[in-house]
Amino acid sequence: MEDKKLIFSGIQPTGTFTLGNYIGAVRNWKPLQEEYNCIYCVVDMHAITVRQDPVKLRQNTLNSYALLMACGIDVEKSILFIQSHVKTHAELSWILGCNTQFGELSRMTQFKDKSQKHADDVNAGLFTYPVLMAADILAYNADLVPVGVDQKQHLELARNIAQRFNQRYGDFFKLPEPYISEIGAKVMSLQDPTKKMSKSDENPNAVILILDDKDTIIRKFKRAVTDSEAEVCYRDGKDGINNLMTIYSSVTGKNFAEIESEFSGKGYGDFKLAVGEAVADHLEPIRTEFARLSADKAYLKKCYTEGAEKALRYSQRIVSKVYRKVGFVDRT
Ligand code: TRP
Repeated sequence: MEDKKLIFSGIQPTGTFTLGNYIGAVRNWKPLQEEYNCIYCVVDMHAITVRQDPVKLRQNTLNSYALLMACGIDVEKSILFIQSHVKTHAELSWILGCNTQFGELSRMTQFKDKSQKHADDVNAGLFTYPVLMAADILAYNADLVPVGVDQKQHLELARNIAQRFNQRYGDFFKLPEPYISEIGAKVMSLQDPTKKMSKSDENPNAVILILDDKDTIIRKFKRAVTDSEAEVCYRDGKDGINNLMTIYSSVTGKNFAEIESEFSGKGYGDFKLAVGEAVADHLEPIRTEFARLSADKAYLKKCYTEGAEKALRYSQRIVSKVYRKVGFVDRT
């Protein structure tokens, strides 16, 4: 790899991403490939911190992998792999866990939230989730980590773990920085625009999935909750319209002033239809490419096998040095 900064990011295998995952995260992964060395990972090991159906997990992992490719992650430019294929993540995770305090992990807000939500299964993996995430990043000595705000606390912890390791064993890990993209807009639920768009929403009309077909997308936008005015403009208190404007802007590249003048004097019906069409048109090539890749299982397999080999080769060098630093005996 050339001498560029290294980006690492991971995404949970939910099978299909929401428009929120797409606009807020995955979409920005593609342009980063031009400027940085990028390593992207489908984190199936993180997924099993909550109960998963094994058949679905396998399918969702493969679909997520194909979807990342369909969204423009280029396996020639970047390393794209499945977390459980690369053993160094689990190996480093153990060592980092021995350099992480119980108190630090107890303070993680995601752990508190998830242990409430899954009160019948507060397992050790859920607790040490951030340690595995630190291992993902530090196994490559990544410089930058694109994450959403909900993951900033975990990244902060990864830095603290790296720092502690460096103090104990001598400078070794880089301290990874969050990479906050300029264009990573936050997408809200179409049914309750004060809440983030989430795949687990009970109301399917609240969420656009990037594999939804055109009719479904348009129907969901038509039903989007707005307000009782009839003015397309970005203003405090107009959460529904603000959200639609954000979405429209991010798929068309138009700014808010342009959108306001485009729809001045028109009703919300016209605006919602335009947003639906723009989103559907934008996602169309991704859907087509996903279908093509999914039909070519052999190619997909070649991609993730090679991705895992490259990731292993890269991370093994780093993790071997860590083994030596902590005092493990060389195996060979
Ligand atoms: N925890 C992240 C999320 O839920 C996913 C993730 C796992 C990740 N490992 C990572 C993100 C390493 C960035 C870097 O979104």
